[in-house]
Amino acid sequence: MPHQTQGIVAVGKGEPVQLQPIIVPDPGPGEVLVRVQASGVCHTDLHYREGAISDDFPFLLGHEAAGTIEEVGEGVDDVAPGDFVVIAWRAPCGTCRSCLRGRPWYCFDSRNARQPMTLEDGTPLSPALGIGAFTELTVVDAGQAVKVNPAARPEVAGLIGCGIMAGLGAALNTGNVSRGDSVAVFGCGGVGDAAIAGSRLAGAHTIIAVDIDDRKLQWARDFGATHTVNASNTDPVEAIQELTGGNGVDVAIEAVGTPETYKQAFYARDLAGTVVLVGVPNPEMRLDLPLLDVFGRGGSLKSSWYGDCLPKRDFPMFIDLYLQGRLDLDRFVSETIAIGDVEEAFHKMESGEVLRSVVVF
Ligand SMILES: NC(=O)c1ccc[n+]([C@@H]2O[C@H](COP(=O)([O-])OP(=O)(O)OC[C@H]3O[C@@H](n4cnc5c(N)ncnc54)[C@H](O)[C@@H]3O)[C@@H](O)[C@H]2O)c1
Ligand SMILES: [Zn+2]
Ligand SMILES: [Zn+2]
Repeated sequence: MPHQTQGIVAVGKGEPVQLQPIIVPDPGPGEVLVRVQASGVCHTDLHYREGAISDDFPFLLGHEAAGTIEEVGEGVDDVAPGDFVVIAWRAPCGTCRSCLRGRPWYCFDSRNARQPMTLEDGTPLSPALGIGAFTELTVVDAGQAVKVNPAARPEVAGLIGCGIMAGLGAALNTGNVSRGDSVAVFGCGGVGDAAIAGSRLAGAHTIIAVDIDDRKLQWARDFGATHTVNASNTDPVEAIQELTGGNGVDVAIEAVGTPETYKQAFYARDLAGTVVLVGVPNPEMRLDLPLLDVFGRGGSLKSSWYGDCLPKRDFPMFIDLYLQGRLDLDRFVSETIAIGDVEEAFHKMESGEVLRSVVVF
């Protein structure tokens, strides 16, 4: 029997999101039905609402979620009803050309539920990042449901499902930040602060946080930034060079998603250093850089999709580090909210009041 519930739907470009009745099917073969307990509000949800990711409205938003397995479809044997899971937007297929090359963290054919969730009139919903978790019940591929230690609070555990994993992985997997490195992080929202926390975990020596909001910079210090730069009144490239003996940092992580901050990251790194782009640009943005500088400065320019994570390897590990007191995930949860408050949470995100608002059910 399909389930009737309510979900946060983005109906059109730039329009306020709406809480609407939705229909969630029973899980089909290889799928699971998840009872969502908590779901974080990520900037990517706002990108969807702005039409910056695709035009496939209506979207069912929400994708940073934890909950329990309610029902499993045919052939599902690695999770069972009652299991506590974090939902991942990457479930490597094992057979695409990237998986076969031994690089499943780039999987080009990641699995999602095949059945659509719909509006009451049958209109199919496009679930954000193949999840759709601002709803009490959601259907995903079984491979997307990653079991973690149930001792973790759902509102914290869910954040590992997107932004926090993206930031941790941008530092640890994509940027390969190592003991003694110098790192600069541009943009200290949930993603940037997680990159800072990841850099600290890796043993980085110097961690420079850059933002345009002093509140964000204060929070960045709590996550491990050793220095902060307010880019609204200081040239961040000059400031970073000064803090690193005139050289620039080994790894520069861009967690805003604009050409301006990308260029700053590009020029703030040492010769042969690494730039990691984890912020998501919009389709209109263009980058203009002297090609000679791209050549002459060497090193590597990388994009980080989901922190190059392998959810089944990384989620349980980070949750365990959290439970051991070695990774402060509680600090990312600025507030818990009701499902009807997502639009207001977008405004709070834009005005810099929160790192993460988390919907709890
Ligand atoms: N690559 C991925 O897999 C992935 C995953 C999740 C999110 N993201 C993206 O990461 C980005 C950050 O997400 P978030 O949830 O942390 O967003 P957020 O809005 O919470 O944080 C963005 C931060 O950037 C700061 N900022 C804005 N302009 C700036 C500037 N010119 N210089 C320095 N700082 C500036 C803001 O003050 C804010 O603190 C978004 O683009 C989001 O879509 C990427
Ligand atoms: Zn694959
Ligand atoms: Zn996200």
